[in-house]
Amino acid sequence: MRVTGTGHASMRIDTAAGSILCDPWVNPAYFASWFPFPDNSLLDWETLGQVDYLYVSHLHRDHFDAKHLRDFVTKDATVLLPEFPTSEMADELRALGFTKFLEAPNEQVVELPGGLKIMIQALTSPTDGPIGDSSLWVEYDGVRLLNQNDARPTDLTVFAELGHVHAHLLQFSGAIWYPMVYELPQAAKTAFGKQKRERQFDRTWRYIDDLKADHVFPIAGPPCFLDDALWQFNDIHGDEGNIFPDQSVFLSEYAKVGGTNGIVLLPGSVAEVTTSGATTTHPQPVEEFFANKKAHLEEVRERKRGVIEAEKASWRHPEIDVLAGMKSRIEPLLDESIYLAKGVGGPVRFDLVGTDDAGRETVESIVVDFPGKAVRPYADEKVRYRFRTERALIEHLLHIGEVDWVNSLFLSCRFSAARIGQYNEFVYAFFKCLSTERLQYAEGWYDEHERSTDAEDITLGDWVVQRRCPHLKADLTRFGIVDGDQLTCQLHGWKFDLPSGRCLTSVGHKIRAARTQTPTP
Ligand code: FES
Repeated sequence: MRVTGTGHASMRIDTAAGSILCDPWVNPAYFASWFPFPDNSLLDWETLGQVDYLYVSHLHRDHFDAKHLRDFVTKDATVLLPEFPTSEMADELRALGFTKFLEAPNEQVVELPGGLKIMIQALTSPTDGPIGDSSLWVEYDGVRLLNQNDARPTDLTVFAELGHVHAHLLQFSGAIWYPMVYELPQAAKTAFGKQKRERQFDRTWRYIDDLKADHVFPIAGPPCFLDDALWQFNDIHGDEGNIFPDQSVFLSEYAKVGGTNGIVLLPGSVAEVTTSGATTTHPQPVEEFFANKKAHLEEVRERKRGVIEAEKASWRHPEIDVLAGMKSRIEPLLDESIYLAKGVGGPVRFDLVGTDDAGRETVESIVVDFPGKAVRPYADEKVRYRFRTERALIEHLLHIGEVDWVNSLFLSCRFSAARIGQYNEFVYAFFKCLSTERLQYAEGWYDEHERSTDAEDITLGDWVVQRRCPHLKADLTRFGIVDGDQLTCQLHGWKFDLPSGRCLTSVGHKIRAARTQTPTP
C-alpha cells in the first residue's frame, strides 16, 4: 500500500485495487487565516486528483476544500461517504459535480471491487466537527491503515478488532482558538496553552497505545497563519504555550515516551507500507525542512499575500444592517431551542468593530439573549461571553447565509473573547447550528443524551463513579484519573469535583460519584 503525503490531513492511498484521495486541502480556510503547513499548493494536483475514490472526513474547511474539489478532483471518483446525521456533505459534494456515492454503513467493513476493503466510523455528536467527524480504515492485501484524522472516538476497539494495523495516521497538534484569543494576562495564556499542548500529546499517546500500529504518522495539523495579523500563532517564536506544535516536535516528544516508529510525511513524501515494514522517500530531508521552517513560512507568506488581500476585499458588505440580519437569522432558532438555549443560560455579546466615514473606529454591541430569546442592542448588562471582532466578518457571514459560525468565524481566530465562569460548550454548539436542520439534530441529541441513564459504576481510587464520562461518554476505566477529590477525563481533559459531582470545565455535565466504603477493620 502506498501512502503519498499531500499536506495537513490529506493523503493519497494507492493500491492495486484502486486509489483513495483523502481530505485534499489547498486553499486558505476560515477567513484566509489557516493555510496548509507545509505548503502543498505546488504539488501536481491534476495528477493527484485522478483517483478512484474520494474520502472527505468531515465538513471543516481544512478538510473540505470546495474550490479544490471542484477544480482538481475527477468527478468519476466514487465518494466514500460517512453515515452522518444530516445530508449536508453529500449535498455539498453533489453541488460540486460529484455523482457517485457509496454510503458506508457505520462501522461496517465494505468490500470494494478488486478486494480493497474500507470501514468508516462516523462520530455524530454536535461537538464532533461540524455535526460529524469520521475515520477511515483501509485494508488491501493484508496491509491495514487507519486514517483517524482529527476524529476523537472514545476508543479504537472497533478498528483493533479487525486485525493488526500497520499504519496509523492521526492528529497530534491543536486546531482551536483556545487560549490564544482570550483576553487574559500573558502568563495565564501561556500556562493554559502549555496545559493544552500537553493534553494534546497525552491524548495522542493514548490512541497510539490503543492501536499499537507498526508505524505512526502525525497528520492533520498544525495549519500555518500567513496573515501578518495572525503570524504570532505559528510555533516559531519559542512560546511554550503555543498549541500548534509541528511534526518535528511530535517526533521529539514521542521519543521521550519511547516512541520510535513515527514517520513524518511532507507534501510529496511517499511511504510504501507492507506487512513487514515501511520505506519512505521525501522531496527533501525532513530534518532540513523543519530546521528552515521560518524561512519556509516567510516564503509562502510572500507568495500568498495576494490571495489574502483578495479574500479580505470580499468581506465588507456595508449595505447589511447587522442587527436586523442577526435578528432575523437567530431569533427563530432561539425560539426552537430548548437544550442549547438553556445550556448557554445567559446573554452573549458581540462587539463589532468598524470604521465610520471619517475613518474613526466604531463599535456596535449586539446581544444574543438566550434566556430572553431575542437579539437586541447591548444594554449595559452582565454577559456570559463577549466576542470582539471586525464588523466585516459578521457582514460576510450574513451575506453568504453561513450556518456554521464555528467553522468560519471562530476557527479564523480573528476575534478576541472574554467570559465569566466556565467554558460553555453550548455557546459554540449553538453557533454551529444556525439552520433548522442542524439545530433540530443538536437538540435531539442533547435530549437523548440527558435522558439516557448510564447505570454502570466503576471504582477509581477511593471513588465509585459512573463508568462513562458525562462529556462524550469516554470509558473512565481507561480515560479517568483521580487525584484527591478531582477526576480528570483524559479524552478532552475535562475535570470533575467528586464530592459535589460538579463539572469544573463546563456548565452542566454533572458526574455521579460517591466515596467507596472504607472497610472496617
Ligand atoms: S469524553 Fe470528553 S472529557 Fe471525557
